[in-house]
Amino acid sequence: MRKDTKEAISNPVFTKIVDSSRDLDLETYVIGGFVRDFLLGNKAPKDIDIVTVGSGIALARKVAEKLSGKPRVQVFKNFGTAMVHYQDFELEFVGARKESYRKESRKPTVENGSLEDDQKRRDFTINTLAISLNKSTYGQLLDPFQGLQDLQKGIIRTPLDPEITYSDDPLRMLRAIRFAAQLDFEIEISSLQAITTHKERIRIVSRERIVDELHKIMLCKKPSTGLRLLHKTELMPLILPELSALEGIEEVEGQRHKDNFWHTLEVVDNISRNTDDLWLRWAALLHDIGKAPTKKFDKKIGWTFHAHEFVGSKMVYKLFKRLRMPLNEKMKFVQKMVLLSSRPVILSKDFVTDSAVRRLIFDAGDHIDALMTLCEADITTKNPARQKKYLRNFKLVRKKITEVEERDRIRNFQPPISGELIMATFNIPPSKEIGVIKDAIKEAILDGEIPNEHQPAYKFMLDQGRKLGLKPIKDQD
Ligand code: CTP
Repeated sequence: MRKDTKEAISNPVFTKIVDSSRDLDLETYVIGGFVRDFLLGNKAPKDIDIVTVGSGIALARKVAEKLSGKPRVQVFKNFGTAMVHYQDFELEFVGARKESYRKESRKPTVENGSLEDDQKRRDFTINTLAISLNKSTYGQLLDPFQGLQDLQKGIIRTPLDPEITYSDDPLRMLRAIRFAAQLDFEIEISSLQAITTHKERIRIVSRERIVDELHKIMLCKKPSTGLRLLHKTELMPLILPELSALEGIEEVEGQRHKDNFWHTLEVVDNISRNTDDLWLRWAALLHDIGKAPTKKFDKKIGWTFHAHEFVGSKMVYKLFKRLRMPLNEKMKFVQKMVLLSSRPVILSKDFVTDSAVRRLIFDAGDHIDALMTLCEADITTKNPARQKKYLRNFKLVRKKITEVEERDRIRNFQPPISGELIMATFNIPPSKEIGVIKDAIKEAILDGEIPNEHQPAYKFMLDQGRKLGLKPIKDQD
């Protein structure tokens, strides 16, 4: 843990803030994430939160005047805050506030307050830490809530009674879980209880803010830490009910299936060791969601999840829509991963034919590598011999994919015969026959009947046309 707080504020930008604060006769501090991350020894944070006892907006204006290039001050009047972008810093200025409850109303009113009033209103003790930017106390750490101790012990604790802190802003329930996952900290027990008790309040938080926190959890080194806490606090069914539905093991006639919720968490951790791609991690999280609605017990074959990949990929759309996540190519990517998630496994079990590999490359396109990464992460068997065998099989599938792709170039498949050429060759207008012929050519290439080349495809087109009763132009008249 670093202690040299003067070092934290050694960047010349702080000199400008110190001078401006003195000019305006204010009391000013740097607070929050910047201090926390510095003390933890993390990379110097670029977001700098400045709190001043007085007007944050006036201070921001003064600072901007002194900075080279006089950057623009963005003022958020309603919040009493101001933002200045300088070099790659984002400086946010706010006046210290306190909350007071009027007798006749339960709604708090925000008033100007002291530094300590402001620290109290913050979410966690580790985020209340402030460093003085005032002459007489320059560089001192102001820590009335033992934030430093919590930082050292690895504890997420609220400065006030958790009931108050979380009801002020229920998003903090997710922030607690996110910080626990990011920093590998424990959430203090009364906080954990308050979150569980007030979980329903998450419904008043905007979906965008929820998703923001979910993304941060998914980008952690070990996302399962956050996902487990979502489960433990019972927030999971309120946010991602599709995942909660995977929990549990049923037994019929002595046959059990695996618990797909806990399996999924392992898959997410596995994939996170191999990729930082947020959306591939989401694909791992959602790859089995179709299993809950498709689960059936069959007396002959036992538990089945027929077409769960297809059902799951449809659920991805609904889930993204509900959470207001982007319905763009990111969503389509996740859908594709879910839809194809079992294909490489089938290949690895059977004797791998070239045509099966070609079809997989055709369907996965540029995402074939991501798909293989997902499938490898899906191996969660605790049997070392089996694990070794599955990994070896996937290695063979990968090798085969490389060989087939080098030879047949299916990855970015472009039909070797265009619709225009078909129309010109048979002298026909746009019609369904063109689609039929193009499709037959594609199928023949994927099946290995003809190579992915113009000449053989042209010849094949002539045969197909004739079968449909079409005459090439040179045979006409
Ligand atoms: N804060 C809070 N309650 C919230 C959000 C923020 O009390 N719901 C306070 C915390 O003191 C926090 C500061 O506002 O440190 C700045 O918020 P933000 O930039 O969101 O968080 P950081 O702590 O800087 O961390 P990160 O950038 O990782 O989100």
